[in-house]
Amino acid sequence: MLVLGIETTCDETAAAVIERRQDGSGRILSNIVHSQIKDHAPFGGVVPEIAARAHVDVLDSLVTAAMQEAQIRYNQLGGVAAAAGPGLIGGVIVGLTTAKAIALVHDTPLLAINHLEAHALTPRLIAPLDFPYCLFLASGGHTQIVAVLGVGDYIRLGTTVDDAIGEAFDKVAKLLGLPYPGGPQVERAAANGDAGRFAFPRPMLGRADANFSLSGLKTAVRQEAERNRPLSAQDVNDLCAGFQAAVLDSTADRLRVGLASFRERFGAPTALVAAGGVAANRAIRAALEQVATQAGTALMLPPPELCTDNGAMIAWAGAERLALGLSDAMDAAPRARWKLDEHASVPAQFANTRANT
Ligand code: KG4
Ligand code: ZN
Repeated sequence: MLVLGIETTCDETAAAVIERRQDGSGRILSNIVHSQIKDHAPFGGVVPEIAARAHVDVLDSLVTAAMQEAQIRYNQLGGVAAAAGPGLIGGVIVGLTTAKAIALVHDTPLLAINHLEAHALTPRLIAPLDFPYCLFLASGGHTQIVAVLGVGDYIRLGTTVDDAIGEAFDKVAKLLGLPYPGGPQVERAAANGDAGRFAFPRPMLGRADANFSLSGLKTAVRQEAERNRPLSAQDVNDLCAGFQAAVLDSTADRLRVGLASFRERFGAPTALVAAGGVAANRAIRAALEQVATQAGTALMLPPPELCTDNGAMIAWAGAERLALGLSDAMDAAPRARWKLDEHASVPAQFANTRANT
């Protein structure tokens, strides 16, 4: 079964074609990502209106390129999938409307995919992986620990009560004068810094629930930065190293609690799986390895290009749903917010637009 996938929920425009075989294995025939980083860099973050217009500009040619590279015709498609949310609504409308037009013209099923579900199912595209497994999703918009019990069957075990981890990396980079996106910059600076110079808090350490919090740590970094201005290059490196070390300690602790709660509720997971841009961070990857080893759980880290936003993950989620006989009606709505599961472990009063989408 061949599926075209379209991703436009944030600042990447992406189109891909994947194949799902009878035995459940997957193959990527094309996977093209157009990053808008340079459009947003002057503003230090993603500007929704600029993002929506940029998606309109490139999506058609990206879809054509993905189909050409895959060397297939539209009438060979088993379905066309688009991320229908959560995300910046302008971009979501662009991607979903495009998918609807293709589905209509070529009389093929439409799949309106939850972007988070696509992240959750991606590991099954690259290797055989049975349910249930434990997903750690950490990007600029999301920080979640999720029990993936089956296609469409997800239980959120933990989430952030304020900032997402990638968002915290980006904000720390900005306040230290490093360019956007900040994650890779902070990682690079941290490699040359002394993590012991500043004693930053380890948010949520020892808490019985598996939730995250980043905003207090970010404020602590800001306060130290203000105290030490003007900052030398070494100051910046040390602040980044201290911040990253605190994130690592907190993340490892939260994942230990998340994995323990997974075992208690669902038995042993087949693996701990990471997704999202933050999973490209080498120090984070090393911390995940340690946590998985300690917990006696296999670790699965998709290649960085499948951790960050892409069309193949959307196409794959579509194929997984199609294989179960599922598809969506032409009136499927674009959604700015769309929880992966409705069993939120964070009380409503902590609801944050980014963390809860
Ligand atoms: O998944 P992604 O490409 O897009 C979404 O946010 O949906 O993730 C991007 C986020 C940004 O916040 C970026 O700063 C962060 O992932 N990131 C990193 C690293 N590379 C990307 N954070 C820490 N270390 C990195 N090496
Ligand atoms: Zn994403």
